[in-house]
This record gives sequence, C-alpha cells and structure tokens, in this order.
Amino acid sequence: MTRTQVGIVGAGPAGLMLGHLLHLRGIDSVIVEDRTKEHVIERVRAGVLEQGSVDLMNEVGVGDRLRAEGMRHDGIFIAFEGQRHRIDMAHLTGGRAITIYGQNEVVKDLIAAREASGRPLHFEAADVRVHDLASDQPRLTFQHAGTGYEVRCDFIAGCDGFHGICRPSIPAGHLRIYEREYPFAWLGILANAPPSSPELVYSLHDRGFALFSMRSHDVTRLYLQCDPDEDIAAWPDERIWKELRTRLATRDGWAPVEGEITQKGVTPMRSFVAEPMHYGRLYLAGDAAHIVPPTGAKGLNLAMADVWRLARAFGEFFETGQRGPLDGYSRQGLRRTWRAQRFSWWMTSMLHHAADENAFDHKRQIAELEYLVSSEAAMTSLAENYVGVPLA
Ligand code: APR
Ligand code: PHB
Repeated sequence: MTRTQVGIVGAGPAGLMLGHLLHLRGIDSVIVEDRTKEHVIERVRAGVLEQGSVDLMNEVGVGDRLRAEGMRHDGIFIAFEGQRHRIDMAHLTGGRAITIYGQNEVVKDLIAAREASGRPLHFEAADVRVHDLASDQPRLTFQHAGTGYEVRCDFIAGCDGFHGICRPSIPAGHLRIYEREYPFAWLGILANAPPSSPELVYSLHDRGFALFSMRSHDVTRLYLQCDPDEDIAAWPDERIWKELRTRLATRDGWAPVEGEITQKGVTPMRSFVAEPMHYGRLYLAGDAAHIVPPTGAKGLNLAMADVWRLARAFGEFFETGQRGPLDGYSRQGLRRTWRAQRFSWWMTSMLHHAADENAFDHKRQIAELEYLVSSEAAMTSLAENYVGVPLA
C-alpha cells in the first residue's frame, strides 16, 4: 500500500494537466492510464485551443512548442451556397483568437513535463478500480507489469474520459444524466497536404456538413458529415476527396488541396452531461463528466477549464483546509459546460443536415446562416463563444 494526495485516473489532457498543476503547487499525485504511452500520444483528436487554454499552457511552463508550432487564427470561414464568409473573431472579441495545435501535441508536452517532475505516471495499468469514495481515504487499485498496486488517496480525480471507470463507480441514483445523440457522425481524415486556406472553413452543403481544418503547414484535417454507422471501408480515398470537393469548393475557385491520406475514422456525435461532477471524494473532469459534439471545438478546452479549477480547489484544501472551492467545483463547471453545450448544439444544428429535414427546414437554415454572416451582433455571439470565455 502506498499513499498520495490525489489519485488521477486517465492520462489524457485532463489527467496530465491536473497532475502538472498539482505538481506546481507541491501536491503529490499518482496518474494511472490503461493504454500505452504511444497510443495516448498518437491518438488523433481535437486541435483547436481557446485563448484561455493557450494562456494556461504558457503560464504553467509547457508552452514552448505551442508558441513555436501553434498556428494562431484570428478568424474562421462559414461557407454555404457556394460562398465563403469570414468571421473576424479577433476584431469582434477585443483581440482574442484560437490556436491550432493538435491534442496529441498537448499530451506530448504534458507527458514530458510529468516525466521531468519525477512523479509517478503508469501507462498500461490494468484492472484500474476506485474504492471507498464516500470515505476520507478513497483507494485506487490497479495491476501493472504483473504486480498489484493499492494507493490510499485524499482525493481521486476521474479524468478517464467518456468510457472510463470512474463515473460508473458512482452509486446509481446519485448522478443525473442529460444526453442527446445526433443522427449523424463525422468521417475525419488527416492528409499530407498544405492547408489551402489560412483559416478553418465550416461548410453547409445540400449533401451535408464538411469542415476544412489543419494540424500544421503540411498536414490538413478534413471532416464530412456521415451516418453514425457509416462503414469506413466504403470510403476509398478517391470517394472521400470527391465528396470533400463537392461540399467544400466555393465559386471563387477555392477547394482543399489534396494529398496522401494518412489516417481516417468515424466519430459519433453526442451531447452528454453528468450532474453533479463529484461523489464523496471522487471528482470528475473532462470527458468523464461531459461530452460536446465537435462542431464548437470545445471538448479539450472544457477539460482544461475543469482541471484548472479543480487544481485550485485541491490547493485551497491542502493549504488552508477550506472546502469552499471544492464544494463549488461542480456548480461552476456545470455553468461552463452548459454554455458550451448550448453553443456546440447550435453550431451543430445550424451546419448539419438532419435526415427528417424538409424544404422549410433547409430554407430556415440558409436564412440563419445569412443572418449570421451579415449581422455584427450575430457574428459577435459566435466569436465570443468560439474563442471561449476566460478561465474562471
Ligand atoms: N483506467 C485508466 N485510464 C483510463 C481508463 C481506465 N479504466 N479508461 C480510460 N482511460 C484513459 C484513456 O485511455 C485516456 O487516455 O483516460 C484518458 C481519458 O482521456 P481523454 O478521452 O482524452 O479525455 P480528457 O482528458 O477528458 O480530454 C478531453 O479528449 O476526447 C477528447 O475531444 C475530447 O478534446 C477532448 C478531450
Ligand atoms: C480539428 O481540427 O480537429 C477540428 C477543428 C474544428 C472543430 C472540430 C475539430 O470544430
């Protein structure tokens, strides 16, 4: 049996950033992750950092590569009926912007910081379980390289994503779940191609949504709305490019530059909130507590905001014995989550085709997009949500 102050389950952005923030406060933690280090780093995920997430990475000393390689975008394009319209987010929000930097790069930087701290981070942990959550001494047990471990903790942080074990360890009846599944998914690819637009292009076409994004000066990331049970085998590269050209190309001659496809996959879309974000001495953060559809690019940023607040709350508890910030953690997190849920749902419904949509719905959708790109008030509403509210 060993001891730590905070047992952290999951080494995604939430668990790793939490471990780093606690380390900076001199608080001990053990991070356990069931996948390999390579898997955690290579897994292709989100790529948009809000200003607040960028500032946080910089403030806590893990921003060197982000500053060198991240791509700051002051605006985005919204495309429909063959035309692209730019929304100048920086102009509309007093200079705030987003930065393109892959989640796997964030994770790489945070793993490096963890390794430099010398504090424990166990990859490939099996049979991870949490116990005695309602007591003052919850425990974390797991198997690692054939040995069983038991860690007595002051708190456990459930940072193990949507499919983790922490949320299901909370007794039935304690959590209220709010959920919506969408009748479509995204087929996403990475391609070795230089970005042909300096900023993201969100497009609504008669055949459905498409998104042009990027990871670097020579890697493009693209998405197509598809069915949730879409068979990726039915999408040879040429079909993907043809569909992307159809949905994205605009009358001014713009189209995505094509290149070798290096990765493809289908991502389901859902909205999910578990309330409250804690039980006893277990606190949930990131995807373990909430999921947003990717259209608003909020998932990674919500995870960062959660652990920033959670680290402060743990810090206050260990430094002064005050429980106030811990008690307020869920309420404040849920406020931010619901704000992001509303925005992500709105972006999703504005830009996707629903199977049961009729001609009226289509006209209304085009009218909404026309209003959006012609009204400074409407563009400001999108911009201030897209760049994100400061951490609080
Ligand atoms: N034991 C240990 N680790 C686990 C377990 C388990 N039983 N189950 C899951 N994990 C790990 C996963 O392998 C993953 O590395 O927990 C981690 C959770 O990380 P993420 O899913 O990346 O979630 P989070 O850190 O909350 O970050 C949210 O991830 O899904 C994206 O778009 C989302 O960008 C957002 C971000
Ligand atoms: C991405 O680049 O992966 C990305 C960008 C914007 C989104 C979602 C995903 O809304």
